[in-house]
Amino acid sequence: MHLKLIAGRANVPMAEVIAHNLEVPLSAREVCRFPDGELHVEIQDSVRDDDVYLIQPTGPPVEERLFELLLLADACRRAGAASVTAVIPYFGYARHDRRASGREAVGARLVADLIGVAGVNRVVSVDLHVTSLEGFFPVPVEHLTAVPMLIEHVRGGVTANAVVVAPDLGAAKLAERWASALQLPAAIVHKRRISGEKVVVRAIAGEVRGLAPLIVDDMISTGGTIEAAIKALLDAGAVPQIDVVATHGVLVGAAMERLAGCGARRMIVTDSVSVPENPGLRLEVVSVGSLLADAIGRLHRGESLAPLIRHE
Ligand code: R5P
Repeated sequence: MHLKLIAGRANVPMAEVIAHNLEVPLSAREVCRFPDGELHVEIQDSVRDDDVYLIQPTGPPVEERLFELLLLADACRRAGAASVTAVIPYFGYARHDRRASGREAVGARLVADLIGVAGVNRVVSVDLHVTSLEGFFPVPVEHLTAVPMLIEHVRGGVTANAVVVAPDLGAAKLAERWASALQLPAAIVHKRRISGEKVVVRAIAGEVRGLAPLIVDDMISTGGTIEAAIKALLDAGAVPQIDVVATHGVLVGAAMERLAGCGARRMIVTDSVSVPENPGLRLEVVSVGSLLADAIGRLHRGESLAPLIRHE
């Protein structure tokens, strides 16, 4: 059974890193839009009896990225692929994991079901918003983590007076992982989300006065959480040497301007989502391509993924 890599259009440079690491070329495919707006995909290489990996994060524009992935999976299944693994480094709709108030959809569950229906046999993802999402999928999920590579990226620049900060309660466990790896204290910002764009800080648990915050989160979307956390930390007496690290730099709306003006010293994300260029914001981008290539190689050879998997 041959290993085949097929990239959707969401993040071709990251897919090329995977292909380079595995020394397997990306298979040819065509994606276009018909005049009536419908997407059309075609796999141009044979995938019959092959072990196929579809590489497609489902960041913005999320419906387009998602539907392209579904069509690619369907095309591979109908073309006789032996197995189809969806490599979704960033999983859109992850935050729709429950009904926060009445009469809402649970989008994460619906999207997970659609991925199974399309013919995907297995999903590989990175730092899902909550680990319980794994149980939403009707197929096995290999939940990888980019945290160890991010820790190694920042380790040399962390000062002795640093404190790891979770910008909300959801990131508390993540902050504990970072604090234990770097032997630092941790603090938690209590935030309340007012709208998709706006959050307010209610309190900070833990000591931050005179310390240099290292804010860690799974994702940055509008930048509202980070902006509010930095303001609250500075108001609480933290020193203005603030670093921000997140796995997924989704960066929508006014995120770029917000982050450029928020006073952070370093801002580090991975390429799980393709990060837009912005001259006003200096982002350090750590590639998850090698991590994903390692996982794909192990899956293809039937080897354990244990060293790459996220455990809580
Ligand atoms: C929330 O639970 C997440 O971990 C992020 O903190 C949040 O989704 C980031 O969104 P934004 O950048 O729009 O505040």
